[in-house]
Amino acid sequence: MLEKLRREIDLFVEKHPRSRISQFESEKHLPGGSSRGTSYFDPFPFFVDHGEGHYLHDVDGNRYLDFMINATSLITGHADPLVVKELSAQVRKGVSFSHPTDAQVRLAGLLCERIPSVESVRFVNSGTEATLNAIRVARAFSGKQKIAKFEGGYHGSNEYVSVSVNTPREKLDPGGPKAIPEFPGMSQAILDDVLVLPYNDLKVCQENLLRYRNELSCVIMEPVVSNFGYAPAKLEFLRGIRDLTEELGILLIYDEVQSFRVAPGGAQELFGVVPDLTTLGKVIGGGMPVGAFGGRADVMALYDPTGAGPVIGHAGTFNANPMTMVAGEAVIQQLTPKVYARLGRLGGILRSKLEAIFGEFNVEVQVTGVESLFGIHFTSEEVVDNRSMLRGDTDMKKLLFMGLLNEGVLTQAKAAGSLSTLTTETEVDRLVSATRSVVDRIKG
Ligand SMILES: Cc1ncc(COP(=O)(O)O)c(C=O)c1O
Repeated sequence: MLEKLRREIDLFVEKHPRSRISQFESEKHLPGGSSRGTSYFDPFPFFVDHGEGHYLHDVDGNRYLDFMINATSLITGHADPLVVKELSAQVRKGVSFSHPTDAQVRLAGLLCERIPSVESVRFVNSGTEATLNAIRVARAFSGKQKIAKFEGGYHGSNEYVSVSVNTPREKLDPGGPKAIPEFPGMSQAILDDVLVLPYNDLKVCQENLLRYRNELSCVIMEPVVSNFGYAPAKLEFLRGIRDLTEELGILLIYDEVQSFRVAPGGAQELFGVVPDLTTLGKVIGGGMPVGAFGGRADVMALYDPTGAGPVIGHAGTFNANPMTMVAGEAVIQQLTPKVYARLGRLGGILRSKLEAIFGEFNVEVQVTGVESLFGIHFTSEEVVDNRSMLRGDTDMKKLLFMGLLNEGVLTQAKAAGSLSTLTTETEVDRLVSATRSVVDRIKG
């Protein structure tokens, strides 16, 4: 297996002499040449020249059919003509101001109309800031300090959610999830305030939520977990957590930074389970930096600056900047129910074709995902939580990722990805046939 990975890496290196130089240069100025954890992979990332529709072109002249689409965010593809048109017009009018624009009201209106839980919304510049603020307002509203999150759940890089995310398998407590810091030097106070729960295990969640009901301000969760290759929650689990949190006076936050793309109103609409607060990012900014948090008007009112002033003061130089707002609006307006239906149908076709390919080669696999999101796990076990996901073969994921790159197809390094509105059965089949070639090489 490692020999095969070595061969794929060698081929990659051969095809990327110019990127290798860029990596070398960037290492002089940036730690490891990088500003972003997910953009680096071994031996070095390719450097991008430009994107065009479904394709990404690197500085070495290679072209990739892109299913990474900047971590699911570019749902209408690269350099979407409508986004380009809106951004070009806005850039001439000014890119950011200290004062509000009507573009902010329009995008907020679209989100409130579409997302069942969102009565009121506030913009920030990243999903990280969105989850930070949703947790902050949950604590301020409830007057309680602790938060609960799930083992393996990623919600950005703020302190509260940097607990028990990508813990190596050997460091997990066999007794069950515990608060494990993502990096050294994390404040013990944060770790004491974060309760970590097992996903899809209602019984254990119930025991813990009951035990800590008087201390817990909120539960933050993804209804479709990105880190588990978009494995969806079991419906009875989502409903159970909703009922419990409501009964116990704990606010429920859905992190829909990624899952918003599964339906006009996000996964909460698809599953019919409505949280108190929702965090957003990625597609709602049309490819520009973005985050948003919203939900119950009485909770969001803590940010209201009118009258006596806000309970939570919150500034941000680029919050709701018009570039992001017009790009987001241009994208959201294209996302009609018909478009979602088509994306969902193609996602279903892709997942079943991928399963068939691995079946042909007798490779044990679980293909997870919902609507336009997909993930591949090399395990015979159903992926329902962090631990079942981690029991899969991660070397195979690396091998598939690198092999697909050499075939001109880009996925996430964790063998997952998403479709865009530009995807047709032709692109689905291209991904499937590239996968067949890679698996053929691996098995051969
Ligand atoms: C579910 C989820 N929440 C939050 C974030 C953080 O968003 P950002 O990278 O914009 O800070 C991400 C980013 O990948 C995410 O997937």
